[in-house]
Amino acid sequence: MKPRVLVTQKLFPEVLTFLETETETEVLSRKGVPAKPDIIRRIADKEGLLCLLTDKIDAEVMEAAPCLKVIANTAVGYDNIDIGHARHRGIMVTNTPEVLTEATADLTWALILAVARRIPQSDRFIRRGKFEGWALDLCLGRDVSGKRLGIIGMGRIGRAVALRARAFRMETFYFDPHPLSPGEENAHAAAFLPLDELLSSSDIVTVHASLTPDSHHLISGEKLALMKKAAIFVNVSRGPVVDEAALAETLEQKRIWGAGLDVYEREPEVEPRLLRLENVVLLPHIGSATFETRLNMAMTAARNLVQGVQGRRPDNLIY
Ligand code: DGY
Repeated sequence: MKPRVLVTQKLFPEVLTFLETETETEVLSRKGVPAKPDIIRRIADKEGLLCLLTDKIDAEVMEAAPCLKVIANTAVGYDNIDIGHARHRGIMVTNTPEVLTEATADLTWALILAVARRIPQSDRFIRRGKFEGWALDLCLGRDVSGKRLGIIGMGRIGRAVALRARAFRMETFYFDPHPLSPGEENAHAAAFLPLDELLSSSDIVTVHASLTPDSHHLISGEKLALMKKAAIFVNVSRGPVVDEAALAETLEQKRIWGAGLDVYEREPEVEPRLLRLENVVLLPHIGSATFETRLNMAMTAARNLVQGVQGRRPDNLIY
């Protein structure tokens, strides 16, 4: 008999076909995020769970699944899963690293450039019929080339962002609780700086830290106050790494030049003050959202799931 697995939300057809050849697959919701009681109701007889970052998989969900062997998350971040409880229960947890690194680094640069060159604002300007011809001071932004970049979180994505900074002839610094080796620093043309120094000396600060109890509100109002008045702040990691209310206040008071956000503290809710500001570019958590990458993520998660329920060690086991 094939192992029984639960898929919380709709997948790409080719991924579903793969899962159905290897497992007895049940897809819980074909539209939107399923409610926790529904997951609990359907997981009781399942050995595997494939979920998305919008599904909160906590102790209560795991306790409803006595035969659960593996939870495969379709994301590199896994702060939606109670890892401590999974470990306690001996449930394997997997994620999807690597496959989304390049797409997320590309999006980071899109956001940096959008903020620096005021691209969404300029687009809105045209659509409002305000363009009356070239003018010396029309829609002025900030130079990116040759500036100083500060990367917070130098994992795979932070490093891919650093590699792209070379094309902009930037001086790159990073902060990470686990600094790179001298060889890696050399390869990425990036030097370590303590967080406060990085914030106060960078022209562009971009956050790529994973969300842990230690990184919650790592970027507080106090930290934002260290930034230069002409600086740009970007977050493509997890919303709660930044104190969103403090960032809104910083932007309202124009204490920095601007910000670009792909993630929010209470997604899908966005701090209403941010919605009213012109000096922030807001994206709906699309860091990895390309056809190729999202398919790769879903297929990676499905492979991890199948390996786990078949009693093999999944490729992307978190612990
Ligand atoms: C992740 O994988 O953690 C991203 O936030 C979704 O692309």
